[in-house]
Amino acid sequence: MFADDTSADGTPPAGTASGDTPSRSIGPSGAGPTTLWHGRFAGAPSDALAALNDSLPFDRRMFVEDIAASRAHVSMLAAVGLLTDGERDDIVAALDEVESEIAEGRMVWAPTDEDIHTAVERRATELCEAAAKMHTGRSRNDQVATDLRLWTRGAIDELTGLLLGLVRTLAARAREAHGADLRLPGYTHLQQAQPVGLAHHLAAHAWALLRDVERLGDARHRTDVSPLGAGALAGSTLPLDPSATAAGLGFAAVFENSLDAVSDRDFVADTLFALAMSGIHLSRMGEELVLWSSAEFGFVVLDDAFATGSSMMPQKKNPDVAELARGKAGRLIGHLTGLLATLKGLPLAYNKDLQEDKEPLFDAVDTVRLVVLALDGVMQTVEFDAAAMAAAADDPFTAATDLAEWLVARGMPFRDAHGVIAGLVRQALDDEEVSMRSRRLTELVSAHPDLGPEAARLLAPGAAYHSRSTPGAGGPDAVEAQLERLDAALAAAGNGR
Ligand code: ARG
Repeated sequence: MFADDTSADGTPPAGTASGDTPSRSIGPSGAGPTTLWHGRFAGAPSDALAALNDSLPFDRRMFVEDIAASRAHVSMLAAVGLLTDGERDDIVAALDEVESEIAEGRMVWAPTDEDIHTAVERRATELCEAAAKMHTGRSRNDQVATDLRLWTRGAIDELTGLLLGLVRTLAARAREAHGADLRLPGYTHLQQAQPVGLAHHLAAHAWALLRDVERLGDARHRTDVSPLGAGALAGSTLPLDPSATAAGLGFAAVFENSLDAVSDRDFVADTLFALAMSGIHLSRMGEELVLWSSAEFGFVVLDDAFATGSSMMPQKKNPDVAELARGKAGRLIGHLTGLLATLKGLPLAYNKDLQEDKEPLFDAVDTVRLVVLALDGVMQTVEFDAAAMAAAADDPFTAATDLAEWLVARGMPFRDAHGVIAGLVRQALDDEEVSMRSRRLTELVSAHPDLGPEAARLLAPGAAYHSRSTPGAGGPDAVEAQLERLDAALAAAGNGR
């Protein structure tokens, strides 16, 4: 019934220690019945089928979850009288051994190990006869859904911690920038628009990442439901107790419908969306770092540990981390759309297409982990060029809106005020001497009957930025309040972490 130690042609099995995957050639193998399900078959699977069908190379990384789920299942079977306590203890001991073998790289995988579920069961049964009972009332269909939910829950918890770490870094750098009164132009259409605090800018990214954490929490909530006990698709005639296995695995809820339990992967899609969205936020941060570290902006200097050089151009310092943060978002979006396409036409209940759920999820988790850790390092070490930022932020033209509002505060309709200031801007820009245009604007404002020297004070370095203080605004007073709320939100999100 289980893997034979020799194949039909008498050669030794392609078993290898953990780390390699048994390889097979394409073409009919001619081997005798070898898999867990071959009782019903007269012929053996072809090598080409096995190469396509086997998921062990990637689902092996769920071995901890698979074994935990088997322990819970076996304990439940004993509790309802389908196993003796002795059998349960023997199987659990065998599972413990299989877990150590895999963890320590001692597991000898058999060519017939299609996936982690069959591999664990095959090995446990070699170690202990009673393990032949461990698949009682269970199918790989509810088993794989259970394993993947456990794995996803753990991955969400890990990534949540990493994202919160990056938010903490942003909050700390924002606090520092706020203390030093750092400001830069805020942009629309990538054109200098109005000055804002650097803290305000950094905090904008922090709030977005906090929403990603929230989205991951939502995905976790829907992931945290046990499908174990649904069987292949319809439950069981045996007196199983799905609540007991759910409790044993720390799931918050149990499935309501066995068909739904084994066939839906919306929890994976939820998680992939949350990760893709987060990838997009990280990508936008990356794009700004690319711009800011260019000679044209010159707003930041990357730490040597988080920049790369050129093999040809000795002077180069490249923002590869930021570029990869931007580039990796593409594959995260691809994983989400790929999975959605896989799911869209599937009839109830389990279909083998669902095996395509794992690689995109695993890769998305690995990708976000890499990006967040590296960007966190960039943000912890990046040096802000306060002078370059202030020089751009204090360009009188970025205070044009504030001048218009100065007129509005004195009774002029906004549309008229906009016209007055726009006229002065146009006149100033007419100056042939580019370096004189800012000074020219200040002179025009001082000389204007509706404006004058008092309004011109808004054009002094930092003045416009300091005077913007509505709730949530980019000026220092509003930012002070915002940073306090950011700390509170971080503390609430990080509760228990
Ligand atoms: N490796 C399979 C998967 O990832 C496990 C479930 C297989 N179920 C089955 N009926 N063949 O989906």
